Amino acid sequence: MSVTNYLFQQNYSVSRKDREDLNGHIAFTVWFSGFSGSGKSTLAAALDQWFFNRQIRSYITDGDNTRMHLNRDLDFSREGRKENIRRVAEVARLFNDAGVVVISSFISPFEEDRISAKSIVGPENYIEVYIATPLETCIQRDAKGLYAKAQKGEISDFTGINSPYEIPVNPDIIVDTTDRSIETSLEIITSWLLENKLQP
Ligand code: PPS
Repeated sequence: MSVTNYLFQQNYSVSRKDREDLNGHIAFTVWFSGFSGSGKSTLAAALDQWFFNRQIRSYITDGDNTRMHLNRDLDFSREGRKENIRRVAEVARLFNDAGVVVISSFISPFEEDRISAKSIVGPENYIEVYIATPLETCIQRDAKGLYAKAQKGEISDFTGINSPYEIPVNPDIIVDTTDRSIETSLEIITSWLLENKLQP
């Protein structure tokens, strides 16, 4: 028998709605997906600052930082990535329950895992942003030098080189950062949010 048969959902007196009311805004998760070097972290930082300037409580979780701590036991195999996304989606769900807006910035290359993240966070709380910067641009940028290493065979399972990236089927927002400033890319995201999530 599974251990979950002996667990009981605990409900507390302060609700998510109470916390959202206290904060003066609703909570939700903005989920960035895209290749390494596509601009996820840069845009996540810009969006976080945009929220902060508007007194919206937000927090970024990303692949590098999470994999150094919470997910340090996971690799980049299919199973490792699946568990990575499951855990960070659970983290997003907790933050949302605490009334905080989450910016989740993960390559999240598999549609199946993104669908599962959406289901964990709750479809009504999940906004998918596909950072659609093409692989060629990301390889040219190679800010971390990882593509060069992967091409030399020094890194296995590297997304775009020897591990797949499945294009999101139904993203809410698409941003290609190739020929766009950070400001213009950010505006695509914030105008969607203002229209669909942050109405006064
Ligand atoms: S995933 O696919 O969603 O589980 O990946 P994620 O947790 O976002 O981690 C991506 C960051 O890890 C670094 N890195 C790699 N990326 C892809 N493939 C391999 N094999 C790999 N090894 C290390 C890399 O810095 C990624 O960060 P970003 O911000 O995407 O460049």
